[in-house]
Amino acid sequence: MSRTIIAPSILSADFTRLGAQLIECESAGADWIHVDVMDGHFVPNITVGPLIVEACRQATSLPLDVHLMIEPPERYLEAFAQAGASSITVHVETCTHLHRTIQRIKSLGCQAGVTLNPATPVLLLEPILPLVDLVLVLTVNPGFGGQQFLPETLPKIRELRRLLDRLNPTAWLEVDGGISLNTLPQVHAAGANAFVSGNFIFHHPQGISAGIQALRQALSQE
Ligand code: DX5
Ligand code: ZN
Repeated sequence: MSRTIIAPSILSADFTRLGAQLIECESAGADWIHVDVMDGHFVPNITVGPLIVEACRQATSLPLDVHLMIEPPERYLEAFAQAGASSITVHVETCTHLHRTIQRIKSLGCQAGVTLNPATPVLLLEPILPLVDLVLVLTVNPGFGGQQFLPETLPKIRELRRLLDRLNPTAWLEVDGGISLNTLPQVHAAGANAFVSGNFIFHHPQGISAGIQALRQALSQE
């Protein structure tokens, strides 16, 4: 079976105990830590910046998967790279010169990712697909944790899987938003191989480790 990635999103973490929760994620076998950066402009919420990425970098050795929901992202790429981001993912809706932005992320020594909102067509990403390390499909409207998965995003995941198989088979196809035991099998079957999860993991009744293990087990049963 090919490798799959579980990436807890710290948006749902307890920020008074962030370091301890990251250690718990790492011990429970999380693969990446997903960091949601929101600017109150591109999305209707404000979250964290490079300072928290730097704190995460000190608390865990897991790759930091930084999802920028900010406009324009170019101004802050260097700050996030210096803070310790392993990958930086930008929204196609925020980049006038997406090709240049992807080149810039790579030149800073980070993996480059691109993402799109639920209402944005896959077509807009096609020209850049051969150049990216990661494609993220938003399966909710970005801005908040704990929202309901939008099933109308499944055909987009399938379409991107077909395109990536042809144009860039080693790039990760990641999904973000409303991932739970119900939705995980659907997005996995559609072709995703990296799974962000905030609410399900951090608010799991038996704790973070149990949440990660439940998702891992659901993947292994596929
Ligand atoms: C949404 C964020 C997500 C969010 C996912 O804007 O990009 O990463 O944290 O959280 P859940 O898994 O709670 O939907
Ligand atoms: Zn995210």
